[in-house]
Amino acid sequence: MAKRRGKPPRIPQLGNHGLDDALYAYATEVSNSESENLARLRRATWTQTIKPQMLCDELQGRLLSALSHMIAPDRILEIGTFTGYATACWAEGLSSNGVIDTIDHNDELHSIQDEHWKALGWHSCIRRHTGTAVDVLKSGTLFTSDKRLFDVVFIDADKENQQTYVDWAICHVCEGGWIVVDNVLWWGEVLRVVRGESNDPRAMQIHELNEYMSTHPDLDNVLLPLRDGLHIARLHPRPKS
Ligand SMILES: C[S@@+](CC[C@H](N)C(=O)[O-])C[C@H]1O[C@@H](n2cnc3c(N)ncnc32)[C@H](O)[C@@H]1O
Repeated sequence: MAKRRGKPPRIPQLGNHGLDDALYAYATEVSNSESENLARLRRATWTQTIKPQMLCDELQGRLLSALSHMIAPDRILEIGTFTGYATACWAEGLSSNGVIDTIDHNDELHSIQDEHWKALGWHSCIRRHTGTAVDVLKSGTLFTSDKRLFDVVFIDADKENQQTYVDWAICHVCEGGWIVVDNVLWWGEVLRVVRGESNDPRAMQIHELNEYMSTHPDLDNVLLPLRDGLHIARLHPRPKS
């Protein structure tokens, strides 16, 4: 299959999402719409950034919001802020004193984030960390002024370090806490890896991560084929000694 420039290849019989696009549009249509302010942030992302396709789509944003409402987290960590759209979706379900820490190495998007987080009313509950995610995680800065473990860790940055982020998350989510990893279908290419039809290194690495999460003794997991795939795992409560 010919590779599309700048994008992972996809399975030809499927649509843009690697799923059935008409059904996907239907699901989006019958779900809640994003708010006007979120729609403004989506437009700003498409008109003011060079890789707007990194933005999560409307249906995924509503799912993140729903998960957040179900969990009512006190503390969330997002790895990969981009323009802060998913940050804002997660913020919707925070507990009354909840906070979301978010990490990105790109400081050029701060003005977009600031403008839209203020308009959305979430600015005061978001703590932004600028730097390479591995460095920020290792630095201990996330626990300097707040010792609480995370209720949710959302992983949506570079794919090379996904396993490192998952291992870090396993050690830093609370008992019963959640780890959510985006882009775990790699636009369908993981299936070609499983069938022995592809040795795309990124897809192979993502498939290995999916297997790692599904067989990890401390995790319950479900992989949702939404957009590019969301892997959702819950850390078992630790046995009392
Ligand atoms: C897919 S985008 C995040 C999208 C965002 N979560 C959303 O849906 O609105 C990935 C982000 O990760 C950031 N990123 C990539 N590698 C990184 C790294 N090693 N450390 C920190 N941030 C990184 C990029 O700058 C980019 O903004």
